[in-house]
Amino acid sequence: MIPDLFRNDEAGREAFRTLAFRIVEWVTAYYRSVDALPVRSQVRPGEILAASPGSAPERPVPADDLFRFLDEVILPGMTHWQHPRFFAFFPGNTSFPSIAGEMLTAGMAAQCMLWESSPAAAELEQCTVGWCRELLGLPAAWEGVIQDTASTATLTALLTAREWKSGFRIATAGFGGQVYRIYASDQAHSSVEKAVRLAGFGTDNLVRVPVDENLALRPDALEALIREDEARGYTPVAVVSTLGTTATGAVDPIAAISGITERHGLWHHVDAAYLGTALMLEEYGHLRDGLEGVDSFVFNPHKWMFVQFDCSLYYVRSADRLVRAMGINPSYLMTAHGNRVRDYRDWGIPLGRRFRALKLWLTLSLLGTDAIRERLRHHIRLGARVEAWIGAHPMLEKAYPRMMNVNSFRIRPDLDPQGERTRALGKAVNDAGFAYMTHAVVESCSLLRWVTGQTYTEIGHVEETFAHIDQTLTAIDRP
Ligand SMILES: Cc1ncc(COP(=O)(O)O)c(C=O)c1O
Repeated sequence: MIPDLFRNDEAGREAFRTLAFRIVEWVTAYYRSVDALPVRSQVRPGEILAASPGSAPERPVPADDLFRFLDEVILPGMTHWQHPRFFAFFPGNTSFPSIAGEMLTAGMAAQCMLWESSPAAAELEQCTVGWCRELLGLPAAWEGVIQDTASTATLTALLTAREWKSGFRIATAGFGGQVYRIYASDQAHSSVEKAVRLAGFGTDNLVRVPVDENLALRPDALEALIREDEARGYTPVAVVSTLGTTATGAVDPIAAISGITERHGLWHHVDAAYLGTALMLEEYGHLRDGLEGVDSFVFNPHKWMFVQFDCSLYYVRSADRLVRAMGINPSYLMTAHGNRVRDYRDWGIPLGRRFRALKLWLTLSLLGTDAIRERLRHHIRLGARVEAWIGAHPMLEKAYPRMMNVNSFRIRPDLDPQGERTRALGKAVNDAGFAYMTHAVVESCSLLRWVTGQTYTEIGHVEETFAHIDQTLTAIDRP
């Protein structure tokens, strides 16, 4: 017998409606009570797998059983990224319009590889990518594409740089024994090292550029390293700079780096995965200095622009270079529209593409950019409040300068010379499920990162976390 949910007839659609409304009720209830849940899941490895059926069911399972599984097994096995005391990593925000956008995307279930395979997806992508370029004040001539992640965008950038620098020969003839070099600071995200590896440069050819006391890449050191490599007969290809490093939010000097890449004929890719969104705020407009000399730029609305994962915007100075490096045209993908339309499959690595522009469009349209800017400023004010509290605390100190809503702190080194108590503090807070922060080691020192960027975080959530940290500090000191 064919289950109702497998048929597009009245009974099938009614069964879907019932299921979908129940899911909407479930999600609504989730948002009503998410702040009462432990932020980081408290399950042990293997627990969810052990509670899951060993084989796929041969016949449909009653929905009641599945909702029970959702409540009793899945929910406790989730770390709640939409919890207002989620301060770990960088946030992976959402908003109700974004969720609604994903519902629409799922509902139409289109595959948007070519203009012809979904003209609205291609043209709404072009529209929203243009909106965001304008919102962030990026150079008007840049063109962009929505990718799944910043990692993919950075890999795309290095592959394009590789082809451009080799006169588009490596793709066909291989490296031919030539040594190609990529430059980034040791604060760059791990996706840079991964991209260097995957693009075939070899991680030995990822040159780590020293940083200054604020963990920003030093342009003088960069230029010296490039000159050294040129003198050895190596081919410097690209610099990846970061606007908002993962550990502390450090910002590399984009303008000075652009000057160097232009002088030496290198590609300049900017990873602004997290802080890029702040370019919407006129008070951070200075962060745009030098961007006109950049070749590619990525930022993630899925981190701090209330559009849920996945949605990463990748911009390039020359779309021709990108399409030349990425385009491939077998007969079965050729359409009658040729150059008159934008086939985004030629703007990145995968062929198949989701309709990601819908959630971006719905979020910007239903929230409006004024409210988004105000929420970003609210998060930055919360960051300043956290910084002031750390500064006034007798046992804690700031590890590196605050960057907007990214704070890094530790227990004072005279009280914690090895960083063990700082690590224990983070573990205790996370294990209790009260709040969630990330521990990191930077320049051999332990620190905790506290990012106040979750959509629904209010001052009360931050202040109750101060009190919780105070109690935890007392508790970890007890033998
Ligand atoms: C600076 C930076 N770049 C890149 C990434 C990777 O982002 P994605 O998950 O979109 O690949 C991160 C993730 O936190 C990041 O902090």
